[in-house]
Amino acid sequence: MPLKKMKLAVLVSGNGSNLQAIIDSIERNELHIDLSIVISNVENALALKRAKKHGIKSVFIDPAIYPNKKEFDQIMAGKLKEMSIDLICLAGYMQILGKDFIKSFSGRIINIHPSLLPAFPGLNAQKQAIEYGVKFSGCSVHFVDEGVDSGPIILQTAVPVYDNDEEMSLSRRILEQEHHLYPKAIKLITENKLNQNGRTVTLKKS
Ligand code: GRF
Repeated sequence: MPLKKMKLAVLVSGNGSNLQAIIDSIERNELHIDLSIVISNVENALALKRAKKHGIKSVFIDPAIYPNKKEFDQIMAGKLKEMSIDLICLAGYMQILGKDFIKSFSGRIINIHPSLLPAFPGLNAQKQAIEYGVKFSGCSVHFVDEGVDSGPIILQTAVPVYDNDEEMSLSRRILEQEHHLYPKAIKLITENKLNQNGRTVTLKKS
């Protein structure tokens, strides 16, 4: 009998190209997960349109309705629990999640960040990389903890930074790799192939 699929929620705020990569992997049958809901805190996010186009339940939660982020998080957490979501992927979700939200889904939230963490956490990671003068940057998928982009790293891909790179060109090169890396990391989780020892995440030996 096939194992029950994990239930995935993707949180977005913008373009949603990583969401698209996840959807495509599912539709190509490479990733076996039930993408149960896409939630956005931005009403006109292209990501929501992408989800709708593929018949995925998509919800806009309006931050303006709630007096603070804590209450916003509570509403979102309630929805995710009600749906028995197993895994939450942040894909360009531009709002910091509160401690309570993170605690209640501990070890079940992952994020993709456009740098080789721990270098250049936070906003404008690609710009930070160029200004610092690094010769390689890349992307990281990591578990979310209470810090900013500071949780245990699951997978990373490096890309070169060229002398004539600008923020846009480097972002494009990194994004291309993100679209491979995120579905790959999710697949490892769905197949229960990761070991974690403190901060260190490794592949289980088969
Ligand atoms: C990506 O660069 C991701 O690493 C960062 O936000 C961007 C989202 O892009 N967290 P998209 O919305 O998936 O196209």
